[in-house]
Amino acid sequence: GFDVVISSQGLTVHVEQGQSILDVLGTVNIDVEKSCEAGVCGTCVVGYLEGEPVHNDVVLMPDEQTSHVALCVAGCRSSKLVLDI
Ligand code: FES
Repeated sequence: GFDVVISSQGLTVHVEQGQSILDVLGTVNIDVEKSCEAGVCGTCVVGYLEGEPVHNDVVLMPDEQTSHVALCVAGCRSSKLVLDI
C-alpha cells in the first residue's frame, strides 16, 4: 500500500493494495467527483505534486501523466502520493 496526502487539509490516508484511492478518500469524507470508476471518463482526474502514480486509466496523455492522476484506478509505486486537492 501507500499513503495519500490531501495537501489542502494536511491529511494523510493509507491505501492498501486493491483499494481505490477514490474509495479511501470517500471514507474520510473527501468526495471527488466520479462517474465511470473504470479509468475511462476522466471525471476523477486531479493534480498531484509529489510521488509516482501508476496510471491505470486510458484518458491521460503521457504529458498529463506527470502532473495528473485518475483516482478511481491509479496505484502508486512510491510510498507517498501528494494530491493537489
Ligand atoms: Fe471515470 Fe475515474 S471516474 S476515470
